[in-house]
Amino acid sequence: MKSPKELLHQFTEKLSQIKALEELETLEIGYLGRNGLINQQLKNIKEIEASERKTFGQEVNAFKQQVQDGLSSKRSEILKAKNNKKTIDTTLPATAYPKGSLHLVTYAIEEISNIFEKIGFIRMSYPEIEWEFFSFEALNMPSDHPARDDFETFFMDHTPHEEHGKMVLTPHTSSGQHREMRRLGKPPIRMINIAKTYRPNWDASHVPMFHQFEGLCVDKRINITHLKGTIDYFAKQFFGEDRETRLRPFHFQFTEPSFEVDITCDICQGTGKVNGEKCRLCKQGWLELGGTGMVHPNVLSAGGIDPDEYTGWAFGFGVERVMMMRPGVGLSNMRLLYDGDIRVLEQF
Ligand code: DAH
Repeated sequence: MKSPKELLHQFTEKLSQIKALEELETLEIGYLGRNGLINQQLKNIKEIEASERKTFGQEVNAFKQQVQDGLSSKRSEILKAKNNKKTIDTTLPATAYPKGSLHLVTYAIEEISNIFEKIGFIRMSYPEIEWEFFSFEALNMPSDHPARDDFETFFMDHTPHEEHGKMVLTPHTSSGQHREMRRLGKPPIRMINIAKTYRPNWDASHVPMFHQFEGLCVDKRINITHLKGTIDYFAKQFFGEDRETRLRPFHFQFTEPSFEVDITCDICQGTGKVNGEKCRLCKQGWLELGGTGMVHPNVLSAGGIDPDEYTGWAFGFGVERVMMMRPGVGLSNMRLLYDGDIRVLEQF
C-alpha cells in the first residue's frame, strides 16, 4: 500500500499535466468517484490494525481534501485561461468610441474670440431681439434713410417702444456698438461681439439666421493704422501667415471713411491666375471679408462719447463666411451648415 505522501505526490504530478476540462473530469472520477482511489483506500481500512485506524482515516480524509482543493483550483485556472483567450486579445485594435465634435460655427466662434482676446478685446453679448433704435438710429440711420434697405429686417409682432421703435431680430451685430458705449460710459473700448443675426435670404451663400462678429475699438488718437493692423493680425491668425488684406473704399452710414476688407485668395495667392487661367474662385486675386471703417462722429455722439476727444474703428464680418473661406474647409453651400446632416459635421 502506498503511503499518503506518495499518493499526494502522484496526484500532484498528474494534475500538473492537465490542460483541458475533460481530462480534469477523468482525473476527478479516478480519485473521488465511487470506485475511485479514495474509496478504495477507505475499503482498505479493515486490513489496518485497530490502533492505527484512526490515524489512517484522518490521513485519507486529509488527502481527499487536498485532492478536492487541487481539482477545484485547476478548474478555475483552466476556465480563466479559456475566458481570457475569448475576450481579451490585446493585439486587436480597440473598438472606436463614437466621439462628438463641435459644430463648425461653434468652432469658428471659439477661435475668433480667442484670437481677439489675445489682443485685449473683451467678448460681449447683447440682446438678440433688439429695438430698432439700436440697430439703426444709433448707427446714423434715421427711420426714413434708404441705407436701411441694405439690412432687410425681421420685425417682431410686438408693441413698439415709445423711444426705441419697433422690436427686431438683430439684422447685424453693429447694435452692440451703441450698447457697449452706453454700458461703459467712457472709452477705452475694445469689444468683440459674436452673435446671431437675421435677414430673410436663402441661397448658397445666405441663410436667414447667421452669425457675425463685430469689433469695436474707441480710445484717444485711434486711427486707420490700428484698424489695418488688427485686421491683418486677424487674417494671419485665422487664415494663415501668408495672407494679405486690403481696404477698399466703400460706404456705410455708421463709419467715415468706410471700407470693404478683402483678403488674398488662397487658391491663386492674390495673383488672380492659376496656370495662366483666371482663378475660378476669386477671378481677380481677392476675396471679400466684410465691412469696416472709422466710427462716424454721429455714432460716437449718440453713444455719449465726445468725437472731438475720441476716435474709433469698427468692423463686422460673417462667421459662416470666414469659415467657408478658410483653406481646406471646402464648403461651397452655407445651407449645409444648418441642414442638420450629421455626415457633414463628421467631416470636420
Ligand atoms: N453691419 C454691417 C453689415 O452687416 C457690417 C459692418 C460694416 C460693420 C462696417 C461695421 C462696419 O462695424 O464698420 O453689413
